[in-house]
Amino acid sequence: MDTVLVLDFGGQYSQLIARRIREQHVYAVIESFRQMTVDEIVARGYRGIVMTGGPNSVNDPESPHFDPALLNAGIPILGICYGAQLMAQMAGGTVAAAGAEGEYGRTQLTVRQSMLFRGVEETSICWMSHRDRITEAPEGFGITATTPQCGCAGMSDESRKLYAVQFHPEVTHTRYGTQIFSNFLDICGCDRQWVMSRFVADTVERLRSELKGKRVLMALSGGVDSSVTAALLGKAIGSDLTCVFVDHGLLRKGEPEAVEDVFRSRLGDGLVCVDARERFLRELSGVTDPEKKRKIIGEQFIRVFEETANSLGGFDLLAQGTIYPDVIESGKGDSAVIKSHHNVGGIPADVKFDGIVEPLRDLFKDEVRRVGLELELPDHIVKRQPFPGPGLAVRITGEVTREKLDILREADAIFREEIDSAEMAVRPDQYFAVLTDTSAVGVKGDSRLYGSVIALRAVTTEDFMTADWTRIPVDVLERTSVRITNAIPTVARVVYDITSKPPATVEWE
Ligand code: XMP
Repeated sequence: MDTVLVLDFGGQYSQLIARRIREQHVYAVIESFRQMTVDEIVARGYRGIVMTGGPNSVNDPESPHFDPALLNAGIPILGICYGAQLMAQMAGGTVAAAGAEGEYGRTQLTVRQSMLFRGVEETSICWMSHRDRITEAPEGFGITATTPQCGCAGMSDESRKLYAVQFHPEVTHTRYGTQIFSNFLDICGCDRQWVMSRFVADTVERLRSELKGKRVLMALSGGVDSSVTAALLGKAIGSDLTCVFVDHGLLRKGEPEAVEDVFRSRLGDGLVCVDARERFLRELSGVTDPEKKRKIIGEQFIRVFEETANSLGGFDLLAQGTIYPDVIESGKGDSAVIKSHHNVGGIPADVKFDGIVEPLRDLFKDEVRRVGLELELPDHIVKRQPFPGPGLAVRITGEVTREKLDILREADAIFREEIDSAEMAVRPDQYFAVLTDTSAVGVKGDSRLYGSVIALRAVTTEDFMTADWTRIPVDVLERTSVRITNAIPTVARVVYDITSKPPATVEWE
């Protein structure tokens, strides 16, 4: 399979570059410049290299640099932002600070003839974010693009297939970004074969041979990553896989049944459902502090998993739904399916395993969802919005009780139903109800009610690090409010949370 190397110099958008390439059905991997040499890059047979941006100045001797021999390795290279400046410096050009002014955000780009800009209009919008600039293109390079403030916004040495752009083609604001990546992949001569059906077939086959005769245990939460991992492993090793699903009683309406329903047919006796609802309620009794609640839930989850694993006896490997952003964030870069044991996700060290299986560790979230669809997992699993491990406990302010859980589950189900069936210009990426610990006066029938206040929360976000509150149509809010107050006798009021993150967080606790 043709692979492009994203050589990472600390860029903010390195993952985005890999995604843009994979979207064009070419496999891309991200490796830090620290972990690679020219010989290794050549030995691995990459079809092309993208040198990423980075926060430094190439003129700072401490900043990331790379062996200039890379430019003569016969591999097409695209340098972006810092990567462009580094290419200029490696090839003998000059880079200088652009004075007090940098160039940030939307900028008008003018391009000239270049293989990289085939199909790109002469003038278009690009996205800039830089302080330094290339002041003199190296010998053999021609200037291929300019912006009002940047005399060399693009350069190339077509004979060596070396290309550099000061702007960021990987961000969607750059009008022809996708075209530019497509052109680069053509220059690299890449076959566009990275498709999920092939990933599924190859991985199932690989897992089948690597895991032959091994017993594998996995903690299944019902979230997208662990569900897809379980389905993939179930297909590969069938009865050698055991999944443990812990119902801690803090799940949404219909959730335990939905997870069991989907996985029982796939895993049969290989699915072990543990009813730990009483245990969690008992442990949470009287606890109101949010952090304390989280700690108790985390600890109890581990104890239940541990006890269940021990009672089932004898497992060789632990499976996890680790995905690529988790791997990159924790600075691990190798791509073996099985690696030596490490203690991740709070799984206790005294549950002994010879190794960890992480079949999705090279995939991004949207790719994981596509694998789920390939495996014919139902939409409600594959397109699931994130749900916190501590579940509804962090959506009930104050003490968690069975009665409060019942109220919240009902209100949450109504809100989700209304959103799911509504037409909306902007759909929220996460939406749920919260049961506050405030009481309010209401009137139902002819009686006064001093009842609960339900808060509705819906956010629009790319990555959940920041989030905007979603402008939900008022008729959807109205229908939700009427239904909740009608269906749940003890609810006096419904309010809508209009706080973005920051300053709020997505969850209330
Ligand atoms: P916050 O509340 O931190 O949430 O803005 C950001 C995203 O993370 C989810 N979240 C969690 N997910 N375990 C999880 O697996 C947790 O303890 C947890 N807390 C928050 C939250 O739902 C949102 O999508």
